Amino acid sequence: MIKEQAEELIHFTFIYGYNIPALQLAEELLSLAGFKDWRVVLGLSGSDANEGALMLAKGFRRNSRVLISNSGSFHGCCVGTTTVSGMDLSVKVSKIIGSWLESVKAPYPYCYRCPLGLKPKSCGMSCVECVRSLIDNVGSENVIALITESIQGDGGIVVPPENYFTLLEGVLRRHEIL
Ligand SMILES: Cc1ncc(COP(=O)(O)O)c(C=O)c1O
Repeated sequence: MIKEQAEELIHFTFIYGYNIPALQLAEELLSLAGFKDWRVVLGLSGSDANEGALMLAKGFRRNSRVLISNSGSFHGCCVGTTTVSGMDLSVKVSKIIGSWLESVKAPYPYCYRCPLGLKPKSCGMSCVECVRSLIDNVGSENVIALITESIQGDGGIVVPPENYFTLLEGVLRRHEIL
């Protein structure tokens, strides 16, 4: 089997080209996601996917340098994804090696142990307000994008309150942030 494969194609990477199974996978992903006429970039890992997304965003906003993410987050182990990750180890590593982008962190919406010390019924979604005030401090023109987890995984399997992402999206759209 190895001989057969070596005779057909000895080395392959998505950087150089695609193959039929990869195209079929891309089409299936688009159909599952309900997207038409979109492009798919296949990567090798979550870190690779996120680093690629960060680079695309930076390419789109060349003059900006700041990424907003969350305390306690994990986005991968490439340079950019380490910078935007909020876990202690990632923060330590990032301080040592430096990065091609800057990171500011907002608290993740963790109602059970609210990082702002507030109660869900009376907090007025201050965690969304934190993102808004970070944008104000940094200046929206300096922000490349915001990256977040729909459920914070390595930081403790934290599920945000129901309307969090709707409100967050509103803030980002108002400031034209990716
Ligand atoms: C939310 C999240 N993003 C990115 C990654 C990185 O993915 P990978 O380990 O495939 O590089 C992980 C891995 O745990 C993750 O939990």
